[in-house]
Amino acid sequence: MIQIKNLTKKFKKLLVLDGIDLTIEDNSVIGIIGPSGSGKSTLLRCINYLEIPDSGHITFDTNDFDIQKATRENIRYMTTHTGMVFQSFNLFKYKTALENITEGLIVVQKKEKSEAEKIAKHYLEKVGLIDRANHYPNQLSGGQQQRVAIARALALNPDVILFDEPTSALDPEMIQEVLKVIKEVAKAGKTMVIVSHEMNFIYDICDKVIFLEDGKILASGTPREVMIESENERVQQFVSKVNLIDQYNI
Ligand SMILES: Nc1ncnc2c1ncn2[C@@H]1O[C@H](COP(=O)(O)OP(=O)(O)OP(=O)(O)O)[C@@H](O)[C@H]1O
Ligand SMILES: [Mg+2]
Repeated sequence: MIQIKNLTKKFKKLLVLDGIDLTIEDNSVIGIIGPSGSGKSTLLRCINYLEIPDSGHITFDTNDFDIQKATRENIRYMTTHTGMVFQSFNLFKYKTALENITEGLIVVQKKEKSEAEKIAKHYLEKVGLIDRANHYPNQLSGGQQQRVAIARALALNPDVILFDEPTSALDPEMIQEVLKVIKEVAKAGKTMVIVSHEMNFIYDICDKVIFLEDGKILASGTPREVMIESENERVQQFVSKVNLIDQYNI
């Protein structure tokens, strides 16, 4: 479980995260929604320590620390126990699908090449791309590249996977194949946090949804509580653009 208390992050004078309290229970799926610039990506990046938060407190299993007093070990724990999947896939251009996955296993986790390949093939199989193992990213569709990126994140076996708009760079017909893979990962019990504008998807798979605006959590609860029943006008206005009702017969 990750417990984040009163997390703040500034970029120069701009306060981007303003006292975030968030609990990520084991085996749960958390959705983060909110307008552009509200701090969604920055929050994920602070959890993964791609950005260094300014203050607050983090408890992640045995790793319990005050952000202002974070040690190398505290930070290493965050980077190795969480994994990111980015909007733009971030695959290595000159490595095959298989090599993209084995790289971290060999370099970071010091696994033997043969073992790394076995693990990589297992996850390529899981995302339905074992027949593309030797293809380079430019020989794969956007949806396939994102599935390789998901396989890569899974292969490192982090406790929590953080998805930052995993489908927003994809053509409409590829969105579904990626959402399907993410849903399977969620069903298998992986703990994950997903930033997405796919509201029906968020409604469908999340245990908890938070709505972020101007670096603050305006609403938090079950998808129904936040996306349908919230009394906060701003939240209502944001979700009213989405027709959840037709699809879910609410
Ligand atoms: N590296 C940075 N340096 C300075 N400002 C930044 C940096 N990264 C983000 N910001 C600013 O922080 C705020 C939050 O950005 P963030 O990317 O977290 O928003 P977001 O909710 O993910 O938006 P979007 O939905 O457009 O992806 C924005 O005002 C953004 O301009
Ligand atoms: Mg973002």
